[in-house]
Amino acid sequence: MSKIIISPSILSADFANLECDIKRVEDAGADWIHVDVMDGHFVPNITIGVPVVKSIKKVTNLPLDVHLMIENPEKYIEPFAKAGADILTFHYEAVNDVSAIVDLIKSFGIKAGMSIKPKTSPDEILKYLEILDLFLVMTVEPGFGGQSFMEDCAEKIPTIKRHAPENLIIQVDGGINAQTAKICTSYGANSLVAGNYIYKSGNIISAVQSLR
Ligand code: DX5
Ligand code: ZN
Repeated sequence: MSKIIISPSILSADFANLECDIKRVEDAGADWIHVDVMDGHFVPNITIGVPVVKSIKKVTNLPLDVHLMIENPEKYIEPFAKAGADILTFHYEAVNDVSAIVDLIKSFGIKAGMSIKPKTSPDEILKYLEILDLFLVMTVEPGFGGQSFMEDCAEKIPTIKRHAPENLIIQVDGGINAQTAKICTSYGANSLVAGNYIYKSGNIISAVQSLR
C-alpha cells in the first residue's frame, strides 16, 4: 500500500505559539503542514496570509501545503509561491480558467492542487485531473475547523480515482479522525488533512499515528 501523506492543519494550532505547535506535529511524524488561507469572501472566515507563510517557512523543513479558500486566487499565486508554499491548492469554484492557474502555479516549480466544495460534482472536474498534482475533496463546507465529516463527499473519491493519473495525490479535508480517515483511504484517498483531531486530542503523537 502506498504511503498516506498526513498534513496537520495549523488552523487548530495556537497561533501565539505557532512554531512550537509546528514542531510538535513534526516530531509526531507529520509529512506536510496544511495552511488554510481564507479571505472572508470565498468563505465566511479570515485566517492567515502571505507574511505568516513566509515566517512558517523559516521554522520547518516540512513541505507547506497551502489551501487557498479565496476569490481570485490567480492574483496571489506568485506571492504565496515566493513565500515558500510547496503545494498550492485553489478552489475550482473560484476560478474561470483552470489550466491557466495550474500553469502559473507550476511555473514556480511547485505542485498544483485543486479542490471542490461539498456541493460540486466530481463530473465537472474530471477533465482537469491529468494536469494536477493533487486533488482535494472537501469533506466539510470550507471555512472552519472542527466540523463534522460528510461521508457523501468522500463517496466522490472512487469516481475521481478512476479517472486520475496514477500519481495524482487525492487528499481529503474536514472532520478527519481515525474512523473517518479509514473511510477515506478505503475509497482511495492517500492524503489526510486533520486539524482538530490532531491539535485538540491531548496526544498529538498518537493522533498522528492513528491516522496512518
Ligand atoms: C476547513 C479547512 C480545514 C480545517 C480542517 O475549511 O480547510 O483544513 O482546518 O479542520 P478539522 O480537521 O478540524 O475539520
Ligand atoms: Zn484546508
